[in-house]
Amino acid sequence: MSRLAALLGAALLAMATAASAETVGFSQVGAESDWRTAFTADMRAEAKSRGIDLHFDDAQGHVERQYAAVRRFIAEHVDAIVIAPAVVTGWSPVLTEAQAAHIPVFIADRSVDAEPSLFVARIGNDTNLEGRLAGSWLAQASRGRCSIVELQGSVGAAPTIGRKTGFAAVIAQFPSMRIIRSETGDFTFEGGKRVMEGFIKSTDGLKDVCAVWAHNDDMLLGAIAAMKAASLHPGKNVLMISVDGVPNIYRAMLAGETNASVEVKSDIGKYILDVVQGYLHGKRDYPKWVVIPTDLHTPEDAAKMLLPRPGS
Ligand code: AHR
Repeated sequence: MSRLAALLGAALLAMATAASAETVGFSQVGAESDWRTAFTADMRAEAKSRGIDLHFDDAQGHVERQYAAVRRFIAEHVDAIVIAPAVVTGWSPVLTEAQAAHIPVFIADRSVDAEPSLFVARIGNDTNLEGRLAGSWLAQASRGRCSIVELQGSVGAAPTIGRKTGFAAVIAQFPSMRIIRSETGDFTFEGGKRVMEGFIKSTDGLKDVCAVWAHNDDMLLGAIAAMKAASLHPGKNVLMISVDGVPNIYRAMLAGETNASVEVKSDIGKYILDVVQGYLHGKRDYPKWVVIPTDLHTPEDAAKMLLPRPGS
């Protein structure tokens, strides 16, 4: 009898826990880069470890698909919605709909250009700082004299705008530093490779180019491939700098093919879901921007960056 009671008790507890499991809708930009696939994997693992029922949607780079996903999450009555927005603009209508349905929204990674009262908080990195760190490193490495080719991220995306603006603000202090070519490679390896092939042609094999600055590592890795195919020597006679800190960029550093990367942490599921769950459990004093710290790495610490991190 007591065994039956214990079994019944355990079953009731399991049912109660299942019934109270939080449901979170997560609208992800896509899978354009190694950084983003690592971020997706981390969100899934973190949600699983917390018993959160994560409704995941991959918008494949299309913001309209993100609007549709958010509307589906609203219809599913999720407890909270997390959005990593493809672009900064156009979010107000769908955020207003979530607010009308009393579903709190959290902006993750990239920022939006919407009325801050429409979301609880943004949990993400400082893209302008990333551009400034990259610009400062290059100013130092080139002693303030450098003709630069720039591979931009996706048009209208917060990191493209922030990194470009931050980098430009730093090099504006140096009269002999200037961007001579700039084009979008859409944050992808293929985009970076294609754009770099064009730059190589239009500059007569990167003649007089001192540096390649890419808004993410994947594009820089594509650029390295294009340069090697043209018998150029990335990281040696052309300085190479990018953003993200994915494992393949550290491997390229160790091979002497690139010189620096500004790290953007991809294992941010814990920060995001801490805020989401804290809010759902009544905590209200979150800042509008929960900043994820960032850092710059070079070949000197590349090997260390490839080691498993504590807690990973
Ligand atoms: O929003 C973060 C950026 O998006 C990453 O730096 C880039 O790799 C990704 O596509």
